[in-house]
Amino acid sequence: MIENDKTIVLKKLISSLQENSNNPVEAEKSLNEIHAHFQDITKITGFDHNIKHLAAVPAAKGKALGLNFAAQCLLDYKRTLQFLKAIYRAILEKQKNRPGETIKIFYAGCGPYAPFITLIASLFTKEELRFSVLEINEKSLDSAKKLIHSMGLSGYVQEFHLADAVTFKIPDPGSFHILISETLDALLYRECYVPILFNLLPQFNKNSTVIPENVLINLSLTSHSKEDNADEEHKVGAVFNVREALSSLGHASHIPAKLPKKRVDLRALAKEGFENILLETQVHIYDDIWLHRNESSLTVAYEIKLEQPLSNTIVFYYQLEPEIALQYTFQN
Ligand SMILES: C[S@@+](CC[C@H](N)C(=O)[O-])C[C@H]1O[C@@H](n2cnc3c(N)ncnc32)[C@H](O)[C@@H]1O
Repeated sequence: MIENDKTIVLKKLISSLQENSNNPVEAEKSLNEIHAHFQDITKITGFDHNIKHLAAVPAAKGKALGLNFAAQCLLDYKRTLQFLKAIYRAILEKQKNRPGETIKIFYAGCGPYAPFITLIASLFTKEELRFSVLEINEKSLDSAKKLIHSMGLSGYVQEFHLADAVTFKIPDPGSFHILISETLDALLYRECYVPILFNLLPQFNKNSTVIPENVLINLSLTSHSKEDNADEEHKVGAVFNVREALSSLGHASHIPAKLPKKRVDLRALAKEGFENILLETQVHIYDDIWLHRNESSLTVAYEIKLEQPLSNTIVFYYQLEPEIALQYTFQN
């Protein structure tokens, strides 16, 4: 365990993060200080050029992002703050519904700093909260273990698994109340959130809470008006809704190489002179807590120039093989 004064400083920073969850400037300051302590303890900065720290780790479907990028997630401020707020609130809600019970959390993809344990656990007692942790990247898992141990939080963790969440069978899955898996990138590109949910969701009870609850990819058509020098945007709606797509697969034993297609009819819009399509990712974390367009690296919007004349239809589908990505084709 780290010496007492460091533990005390970290605990103070964690409480001030909690108190300042609605004060982004103060919360960012606390996160930067926390990051400095985490680097000091784990020796993982997130910013070195060691190739082993940069390489993505292949999973059964998709890829887990490299160790350094996983470390840097802590400093995606709005993301981290919104997830912490959501997890804290979800735990309180479970406690309300199950007074006196230990709330059990399965954390799939903890990264080297396991922030959803290291920044949450000390706000509760060991009797109130118990985590099981899973991570595919051995070095990340080792670092998370070291940090959790150094912070005196080992008593909150029931087990650590070095495994792929896309295929993992959870021991006693019915005992968990909350599943956390922030394993996604903008446009759900390459990372494993979708196949992880496909594997893990059926193992949990129906009333378990999943964080993030859902991810949507929304389409807009845009153009730049020369008259008033403003961007015009026509919102079309979701072209991919993860939870809807997964429920449409029913009890399938394998996730298909392509998820169901979504067709968007462009004929009515063709006359309006739209120049681009814009795809945005919206992360529904929990309850009314969301990450919206450009609030985080997870929700960076992408604009793509449209070829004129506009085709009649765009067809979108989420592909899991050979690589995970949202695909689209134009049809007439
Ligand atoms: C975006 S990082 C988030 C890290 C940390 N939870 C945080 O919020 O800062 C995702 C983590 O999930 C892990 N991961 C991704 N896919 C995984 C899989 N299929 N099985 C287990 N871990 C996975 C990655 O290695 C990475 O450490």
